[in-house]
Amino acid sequence: MKVLVVGGGGREHAIIKKIKQNPRVDEIYALPGNGGIARDAVCVSISATDIEGIRRFALENAIDFAVVAPDDPLVLGAVDVLEDAGIKCFGPDKKAAIIEGSKVFSKELMHKYGIPTAEYKVFDSQKEALSYLDEAEFPQVIKADGLALGKGVIIAFTKEQATDAIKSIMQDKIFGASGNRVVIEEFLKGPEVSVLSFTDGKTIVPMISSMDHKRALDNDMGLNTGGMGTIAPNPFYTEEVASECMEKIFLPTIRAMNAEGRKFKGCLYFGLMITPKGPRVIEYNCRFGDPETQVVLPLLKTDLLDIMMAVREERLENVDIEFSSQAACCVIMASSGYPSKYSKGYKISVPDSLIEKIYVAGASLDPEKGLVTSGGRVLGVTAKADSLGDAVKAAYDMVGKISFENAYYRRDIGKRALDAINSKG
Ligand code: AMP
Ligand code: GLY
Repeated sequence: MKVLVVGGGGREHAIIKKIKQNPRVDEIYALPGNGGIARDAVCVSISATDIEGIRRFALENAIDFAVVAPDDPLVLGAVDVLEDAGIKCFGPDKKAAIIEGSKVFSKELMHKYGIPTAEYKVFDSQKEALSYLDEAEFPQVIKADGLALGKGVIIAFTKEQATDAIKSIMQDKIFGASGNRVVIEEFLKGPEVSVLSFTDGKTIVPMISSMDHKRALDNDMGLNTGGMGTIAPNPFYTEEVASECMEKIFLPTIRAMNAEGRKFKGCLYFGLMITPKGPRVIEYNCRFGDPETQVVLPLLKTDLLDIMMAVREERLENVDIEFSSQAACCVIMASSGYPSKYSKGYKISVPDSLIEKIYVAGASLDPEKGLVTSGGRVLGVTAKADSLGDAVKAAYDMVGKISFENAYYRRDIGKRALDAINSKG
């Protein structure tokens, strides 16, 4: 079989390494891939948002199955275009991908179907958004409606901060048309849990839970990033919470999307907050999370490609999906300065014994230097072990053996989870 994976980050590297384990796979193409993915797949320099280029490549190369991993091509309708051309795909169509593509859509969906989430208001006029702040209590959370590279959410602790956020989104259009509308919502508190799920629109199978570490600096300080590290499973996601989520969030979401004529098939990501009043949806993503995938897939025991094909053919009900009882930790090694300005082009030194084990996100191949840094998040260093404590330790041991100029990583990935485990005794 020839498989194509759209995307070129650490998440795609984890997906590719897993798909490679399927004995029927002869060749994997990554569009565009990256310098590390090139060890596992044929990288082709077609951008993930060049939908026409992807379609042509898939047809010319007789691709048997395509996985569209990132949000932008999904929201642009890559799956619709490929399926229309006769290419079998894993991922939601454009109508379903709106669950991530528009926060206004997702909030209205949750409101209409009684799915627990933060209280909110939608504004398409800046004037009205600003005057709403006059009566509001702070903090408030301001969200641009559309995709914004994970930066479209601002937590405003004062009216001034909220005013600045609204002006920069709606007037200065820092996120372009994504800021034509804003959602202003209630600030919630509690530990966050990421739950990725497989769904074919009929059956939903949550994967092992995980915890992202979104802020750039230790102790959850600094700017929001795409994610600086992850652990799985998430100790705050107890069996009790899981069954409440299934009943009040997961199944209702699948039914709601069906009722709206937007059947969701693919990986549906639930960003949850476990509040004192119960779990609430913070966000939906229409795809695998990054770097959640880098801890979730290493623990998946069932063949990934088989699951993906079952999702497409709507026979997930008949697939037995198993996860390991181990724990995993992924530490992101980033370029110092990320998520703001950073320099790149530095040679990455990785011992041969580790190169096969790491997930490469922002690195390219230089003809002289070999693997060099080319992005903000550079590597995802994942380790598995029987306990979370051992997985964290093993991941940091690996990080200690890898070096590049300007490298930066958080030192406290897994700390909050381990504190929770230890306090439970
Ligand atoms: P998102 O880009 O939607 O994942 O949001 C980024 C981060 O902002 C989330 O991971 C939360 O930490 C935080 N956040 C989003 N919405 C809320 C909310 N209503 N209350 C508190 N924190 C929030
Ligand atoms: N790690 C968060 C996300 O993928 O959106």
